[in-house]
Amino acid sequence: MLKEVYYPSEALSKNATIKSMDEYRALAEEASRDYEGFWAKYAKEKIDWFAPFTRVLNEDNAPFYKWFEGGKLNVAHQCVGRHIATKKNKAAIIFEGDNGDQRIITYRELWYEINRAANMFKNQFGIQKGDRVVLYMPMISEAAISMLACAKIGAIHSVVFGGFSAEALRDRIIDAEAKLVITADGAFRKGSPYMLKPVVDKALEHGCECVKAVCIVERNGEDIEWIAGRDYAYNELIKNESNVCEDEMMDSEDPLFLLYTSGSTGKPKGVQHSTAGYILWAQMTMEWVFDIKDNDTYWCTADVGWITGHTYIVYGPLAAGATTVMFEGVPTFPDAGRCWRMVEEYQINQFYTAPTAIRLLHKMGADEPKKYDLSSLRILGTVGEPIDPPAWKWYYEEIGGSKCSIVDTYWQTETGGHMISPLPGATPIKPACATFPLPGIITEVIDEEGNPTPIGEKGFMCVTKPWPSMIRTIWGDPDRFVKSYFGDCKKDGKPVYFTGDGAMIDEDGYVTITGRTDDVINVSGHRMGTAEVEAAVKKHSHVAAVAVVGKPHPIKGEGIFAYIVLKETIKDTTAEEMDIAQDINKIIKEEIGAIAVCDSIVIVPDLPKTRSGKIMRRILRSIAKGEAITQDTSTLEDPSIVKKIEDIVNSDDI
Ligand code: WT7
Repeated sequence: MLKEVYYPSEALSKNATIKSMDEYRALAEEASRDYEGFWAKYAKEKIDWFAPFTRVLNEDNAPFYKWFEGGKLNVAHQCVGRHIATKKNKAAIIFEGDNGDQRIITYRELWYEINRAANMFKNQFGIQKGDRVVLYMPMISEAAISMLACAKIGAIHSVVFGGFSAEALRDRIIDAEAKLVITADGAFRKGSPYMLKPVVDKALEHGCECVKAVCIVERNGEDIEWIAGRDYAYNELIKNESNVCEDEMMDSEDPLFLLYTSGSTGKPKGVQHSTAGYILWAQMTMEWVFDIKDNDTYWCTADVGWITGHTYIVYGPLAAGATTVMFEGVPTFPDAGRCWRMVEEYQINQFYTAPTAIRLLHKMGADEPKKYDLSSLRILGTVGEPIDPPAWKWYYEEIGGSKCSIVDTYWQTETGGHMISPLPGATPIKPACATFPLPGIITEVIDEEGNPTPIGEKGFMCVTKPWPSMIRTIWGDPDRFVKSYFGDCKKDGKPVYFTGDGAMIDEDGYVTITGRTDDVINVSGHRMGTAEVEAAVKKHSHVAAVAVVGKPHPIKGEGIFAYIVLKETIKDTTAEEMDIAQDINKIIKEEIGAIAVCDSIVIVPDLPKTRSGKIMRRILRSIAKGEAITQDTSTLEDPSIVKKIEDIVNSDDI
């Protein structure tokens, strides 16, 4: 008998797709016995192929793996078109606006909308297979429609989160050489309009000659500037288009989309996903991890600008023929009961959110859940960062009424879909634990030498076999793809995929994710590269040097902590410190966006550097956390600097 576990309810297990640990083990066993056979079986069963694949997995050019070669398919057909025969009047998307307005789009309507948008992209903007289209969109149904319309015609979309600044948007447009940008005038947040189109205008001010047109959805109706010959009204143009559009025949390995994400060094990388492997796993995990059933109403609170929004608001739920909720607003407006009111109103069966939201809702409205009928809930999900046991318990007891399974889903932009997660009808769960790799996902926790770490010890979370929904390359930079994810470590002669996360396996074999092992910080479930933030801080004319680290934050998970060294010329300017901090955050907002602003900025005389000039971030992380320094400081160029920095940080009471 396992200690401290929560077993799935009998009712849930009985009707679940995977009903027991025996079934789980049988599936995992099947996958390791005949890896290609396992994946071939599901690919045949789940995908509506236009032409069958002829080879399951091509490992000739590892780690540039190819799955299901020879197969022809279309993701818009897989997600919507093929469902028309059986689900034409079923709700595909339920949209709720910030102000409570609702729009319910059936599968039939969605199909027509996608076809009209696809025709518009082709006919009005000349978009062809392989062209890149950047989406800078609020959480409105046109975002999903545009993504699927791109998939329909074989255009590669790159959705840029609406919180990114003009600079960040410009970098991504240029890197992808996008031909078309789809945006909205703006949208609504907390009862007020906010704007997106002016950000696009600013991004396109220079360097974006690749962009031939901007297509603007009307959402908030605020005044925007129109540039003749470049800007077009989505709502006007789409009226002229036909409901009928032919599916582009896509190869399994054709890119479906790019999504930029932060790494530990350099600028964001355009993670490239495939067509067949991606959609297969998106659909399978909806069925396994969310146990989606035909009558379910499923809600994931993510934004379409992140991978969770791609796989688990748009592609996965629709491929599975589900009803997916899209919410424009924020969970705390008009009050911290918003989500629970929506759960009651739509009778949500699966609710999927981030630990940061759970902590915030717990703090702001611990009693709110009691005011609503949450009995429709069956499965609760969490994603994006390690969840802490108190937040987990509140979620389990107050939201789930101690009867729902919690799926703590561990995955990444690069993995396309879930990797390690409980199965709601099978896995006895432990608080704040991702539990076991899903069947077909072969993981290992290893040490520096590539050996499995002993029970209870931290190691590197790795994936030792390629899987269908994995990243294919970094757009335009295959070398960086290899360097970022594949070290020297090999298993069965093939390079091992490094996630960048630490993990630990306990005596029952359960996997707990312990957080990043590289220079990536996780702020409210958003991934930030310290190098990117540092590059922005360095733009301040008074800053000589900077080091950015993460510091635990009660709501956000991690906050951003910056140590700066001022230029000689303006040292001893304590009075100016406040302004400098404000100015630096202003620059960060311009360069990246408000999600990257620093919680603390401290001025220090110097940074702890080795004699070769490398900044010892681990020491800075410990100081920010208020931990005792256990690292060896004797190799530092100036060991006395550590004490000086500690004193400053402690006296500032940061
Ligand atoms: C990083 C990936 C995956 C979609 C959202 C974020 C962290 C993700 C968990 C979890 C602990 C988690 C990891 C990972 N992470 N899920 N359940 N438990 N940590 O996608 O922006 O690509 O970030 O989020 O550190 O590497 P992303």
